[in-house]
Amino acid sequence: MYKVLKNEKLNENSFEMVVEAPLVVKKAMPGQFVIVMAKPDSERIPLTIYDYDKEKGLLHLIYQVVGASTLELSKVKKEMFGVVGPLGNPNEICENIDKFKSKKVVYVAGGVGVAPVYPQVKYLKEHGIKVDVIYGARSKDLFLIQDKIETVANNIYYATDDGSFGTKGFVTTVLEEHIKDYDICVAIGPVIMMKNVCDLTQKYNLKTIVSMNPIMVDGSGMCGACRCEVDGKTKFACIHGPEFDGHKINFDIALNRMNIYKEEEQVKLKEMEANYE
Ligand code: NAD
Ligand code: FES
Repeated sequence: MYKVLKNEKLNENSFEMVVEAPLVVKKAMPGQFVIVMAKPDSERIPLTIYDYDKEKGLLHLIYQVVGASTLELSKVKKEMFGVVGPLGNPNEICENIDKFKSKKVVYVAGGVGVAPVYPQVKYLKEHGIKVDVIYGARSKDLFLIQDKIETVANNIYYATDDGSFGTKGFVTTVLEEHIKDYDICVAIGPVIMMKNVCDLTQKYNLKTIVSMNPIMVDGSGMCGACRCEVDGKTKFACIHGPEFDGHKINFDIALNRMNIYKEEEQVKLKEMEANYE
């Protein structure tokens, strides 16, 4: 069992969890993910790492309650059954600092996608690469970890769909204004956002890395659940990703696959909600 030190609501449906997992964080790098299980019979949930403290052995995660399993996770109090990781590959820029030292980098974070963006920007700052961040949310109240991301970002630009904070519009509106300032872009958030960022950056020939979070089961390349089409070939997000060259992703397939189990997910969510009434 893994000791849970914190599992608190941040806003309408996002939670922050802090777990004691020294062996997991020992080798963790920005861009990687873990799979967590609330109980022995729970579904396995893949979550991109938000933060870690190697000295204290603490793993920080931010997740949204979107279905039965994340609802169950939000009810965890003192301990949980499983934390497997770190899984997947580190972010390309963080892993190849010298190659990117002179590059102008922009991160585009959509909603809760700011969680995996944070450790990357922090790591790059610590290694001498200044990074700008464009951070979008539907409304002002939905921004997460604003103080933390502002501490590590060089410039930060906000956008809200309803215009309640920063530029009114999507992250792509802000990116288009500044796009000529950058040599490389990393976009993490809803799949439709990553698709639209890539459609834009392709026009400007701006290299773009995206982090895919498809349905996963085993997380070790065995089941095929996380398959994505990249450059016309099948890749598994859990072992070949989760980050890929965004200009090579078939986003239409990714968007379709996301919705395969929507009906079943709603049924299961209702059952789980009834357990907690
Ligand atoms: P959201 O739907 O509230 O969108 C957040 C922002 O993304 C919007 O404010 C907008 O700026 C941008 N966006 C949304 N739709 C867009 C469009 N059509 N074109 C351009 N920009 C658009 O996001 P949310 O509810 O916080 O959900 C976050 C999503 O991020 C979830 O789908 C989650 O699965 C995903 N996520 C991905 C990762 C990863 O590692 N890839 C990690 C965490 C979360
Ligand atoms: Fe099974 Fe990736 S989750 S192959």
